[in-house]
Amino acid sequence: MNSLFLSPEHVLQGGYFHETLRKLQEPNTSIQPHNIMYPVFLLENEDGFQSVSSMPNVYRYGINKLIPALTELVEKGLKSILIFGVVETLEKDAIGTNADSPQNPVIKALPKLRAALPNLVLAADVCLCPYTSHGHCGLLTPNGAIDHAESVKRIAEVALAYAKAGAHIVAPSDMMDNRIKAIKDALVANKLQNQVSVLSYSCKFASSMYGPFRDTMKSSPMAGDRKCYQLPPGSAGLAMRAACRDVAEGADFLMVKPGLPYLDIVRQTKDKFPQHPLFIYQVSGEYTMICRCGDSNEVETTLMETLTCMRRAGADCIITYFAPLILSIISNKQ
Ligand code: PBG
Ligand code: ZN
Repeated sequence: MNSLFLSPEHVLQGGYFHETLRKLQEPNTSIQPHNIMYPVFLLENEDGFQSVSSMPNVYRYGINKLIPALTELVEKGLKSILIFGVVETLEKDAIGTNADSPQNPVIKALPKLRAALPNLVLAADVCLCPYTSHGHCGLLTPNGAIDHAESVKRIAEVALAYAKAGAHIVAPSDMMDNRIKAIKDALVANKLQNQVSVLSYSCKFASSMYGPFRDTMKSSPMAGDRKCYQLPPGSAGLAMRAACRDVAEGADFLMVKPGLPYLDIVRQTKDKFPQHPLFIYQVSGEYTMICRCGDSNEVETTLMETLTCMRRAGADCIITYFAPLILSIISNKQ
């Protein structure tokens, strides 16, 4: 008897044989421009323009080259960027003086970006590692350990300086405990708390996938590694505690970084804090892996599948070096 083999209540294929029906089966996974944030590397030299040897199609720009490039992308739908200052000639010292000095490229560029691209959301990465002589993300005690109190104080000063210069979002990537409260307190003391949001790199792991970025930024630690402040890759427990702590300290947005191998962390964070928009940083190593996965068609389909799965896992916004490519893919589809 046929019915032995055909059990109607077990037939799933009746629900996804057509593209339109398939879309109904993938709720909340669409990729629209507001789901994408583009990281940009900003040079001190205002007319500078350099390619990045470790990352295909990624460039470092001086502000005079960055504005025209972003203007073109905004016309294609770009909604937000994450800015990293790159140091070539500014002096690096123990306390990262140039993280918020008047010569800092991010401080100089923010007012120009606000004026030139008034609708673009500007997030500034807040960290000390590009500006410290030792290359660590916080300040050190004489014996080389992280000086917790001094690090947090300094990170909050830098975040406040970027907020005053015009960042809509300050995004501390340093992973020093208690920095979110210190930053929020500084914003409140300066009446900026309702005009600047705090995007915490809340669940940032000590990953081997940051290599191409560190080449780009010249920000590797001179000695040691970052395992005493970035999270151990196997620890879902610390990731949960860090997210809970950052929410309690007033983070507006949370982040999981890297993305692809950490989608379980994305899901656990979204389930715990469904009211907080959640970001994924698709990091430089993930970018180069996808770039190497095949020809341009395979790169595009692998990329879009990856983004869909990140959305399925609970990400609201994905920070990605692929932003220009994604904008062209999604605008061609519509
Ligand atoms: C530094 C920082 C890193 C990244 C963003 N900010 C590197 C690190 O923490 O070692 C990684 C970004 C990427 O790999 O794309 N605070
Ligand atoms: Zn850092």
